[in-house]
Amino acid sequence: MSNEHIVWHDSSITKKEYQQKNNHTSGIIWLTGLSGSGKSTIANAAARELFEQGYQVTVLDGDNVRHGLNKDLGFSDDDRKENIRRIGEVAKLFVEQGTIVITAFISPFQEDRQIVRQLVGDGEFHEVFVKCDLNVCEERDPKGLYKKARNGEIPFFTGIDSPYEEPAAPELVLDTGELSREESKQRLVDYVKETTK
Ligand code: ADX
Repeated sequence: MSNEHIVWHDSSITKKEYQQKNNHTSGIIWLTGLSGSGKSTIANAAARELFEQGYQVTVLDGDNVRHGLNKDLGFSDDDRKENIRRIGEVAKLFVEQGTIVITAFISPFQEDRQIVRQLVGDGEFHEVFVKCDLNVCEERDPKGLYKKARNGEIPFFTGIDSPYEEPAAPELVLDTGELSREESKQRLVDYVKETTK
């Protein structure tokens, strides 16, 4: 839907001014991967370290956003698409305001991730594949959801009866089946520092 009676107002403070104040550039660090792959853990640990080093950083996390902004959405393909679209728009606002925003959503569809990439400028979207085999995620099962999905209590569970499309050319891969939490966090922190100079 578009409305010809809505007029865009430019912000009085530019992205560049925010970035100069922060001493780093901003961008979206988009973590994608199966439930239980470690997205939230890595996102929060990396954000903590960056914050302590003076970075302007925030985390948008699947479960939290679905409690508020997106509580009207479920897990059909269309709802997941709308989930990612809204998060992309919110993340863009953070980028405009000079923040490094680390997002932790399954975001199973390539097309939806690509739409977010195109929302922001060149070099402002960084796709990070949090790679972990389904059987390892299922073994971890931190929320007990795989067990429920296998029992038929949660329909359309990603990896079980709903697809996950792996990124074709992610900027970074964190193989959490191989790396420790600390190593994954450190690789992400190093990557963010390098790309937001
Ligand atoms: S996404 O597919 O739309 O990107 P999102 O990251 O917001 O998903 O939410 C995923 C979280 O919701 C999972 O970590 C899990 O805790 C919970 N969840 C509940 N139902 C499902 C389901 N059918 N498929 C995947 N995750 C689910």
